[in-house]
Amino acid sequence: MSQLLSVRGLCVDLHQQGQCSRVLDDVSFDIAPGETLALVGESGCGKSMTAQALMRILPEPTARIAAGSILLGGRDLAREPERRLRSLRGAEIGMIFQEPMSALNPVLTIGEQMVEAIRAHRDVSRKQAMDESEKVLTAVHIADARAKLSEYPHRLSGGMRQRVMIAMALAGRPRLMVADEPTTALDVTVQAQILRLLREARDRTGMGMLLITHNLGVVAEIADRVAVMYAGRIVETGSVQDVLLNPAHPYTRGLLKATPRFDPSAADEPPAMLYEIPGMVPPPHRRGAWCVFADRCDHATDACRDAVPPLQTHRASPTHRVACTLNTVAA
Ligand SMILES: Nc1ncnc2c1ncn2[C@@H]1O[C@H](COP(=O)(O)OP(=O)(O)O)[C@@H](O)[C@H]1O
Ligand SMILES: [Mg+2]
Repeated sequence: MSQLLSVRGLCVDLHQQGQCSRVLDDVSFDIAPGETLALVGESGCGKSMTAQALMRILPEPTARIAAGSILLGGRDLAREPERRLRSLRGAEIGMIFQEPMSALNPVLTIGEQMVEAIRAHRDVSRKQAMDESEKVLTAVHIADARAKLSEYPHRLSGGMRQRVMIAMALAGRPRLMVADEPTTALDVTVQAQILRLLREARDRTGMGMLLITHNLGVVAEIADRVAVMYAGRIVETGSVQDVLLNPAHPYTRGLLKATPRFDPSAADEPPAMLYEIPGMVPPPHRRGAWCVFADRCDHATDACRDAVPPLQTHRASPTHRVACTLNTVAA
């Protein structure tokens, strides 16, 4: 399959208080047109850094790309000059953030912001941009879109603001959408609507999507493939079936065990205590050339602390890869 996005060996370093530590280490993945890759992992694992590196909006100079390539449409975004990137953002890559308020300008109406966003990338009149804005708002199921265009962001609910963000991102007709925890700040019924919208938009436009989430329910709902990130490295990747039904890395197993599940047949039983993976994600300066999950892993042996386990194909499926010295640890 020809890829839309190919990330290879991406490394990002953090420079803080005279120290340099690696916050993304040798990250590689592909996204095909129309495909959704979910990037999952606990807070602090480097998911947002990955999104920021793709858009080249890292908090520089603190965080910098140290190695690797980000190939999109024949260009290496890791090496493009800033002025070229400006025209790519929005047009080639759209982005949706967790907190839409931080991306919306509070002193401009929704319409003014949308017109501005559209005209930044396309040579259209204000009137055409206004009509287009109404169209994309309607496409994200905003009722009475024309009237909403003259509202200010604070007048809208959280779910409505997230729809506006999605509409704005879609208005640029990006080939790749990067959605960083797009539903985390919303209540569950709104979450489901937003996911449905994203899926519709992807199916309608054929855009590829990198969906960042710590919610494995969201993954099952919308993704084709999954990459599990731990402490700046991808530790397991494969199809949704590979990873969610046959998780091979002890970290992925822990994440799944920590995910609440609704089992209708057990609805009368008292709820079981939710599992928590013991310990915490080590901060970037405490990571090294070994399996950084070893300290939290029930299966760890001395070999786990000798070297970084490479991502290797899992014996059960050619699309499934796992970075664990035990590779196929017993359940
Ligand atoms: N602006 C920043 N300056 C310094 N360190 C940061 C900054 N943003 C994130 N980090 C650190 O980088 C690591 C990865 O963070 P992040 O990508 O935000 O994780 P995630 O999105 O998976 O929760 C964390 O250790 C975090 O503390
Ligand atoms: Mg994040």
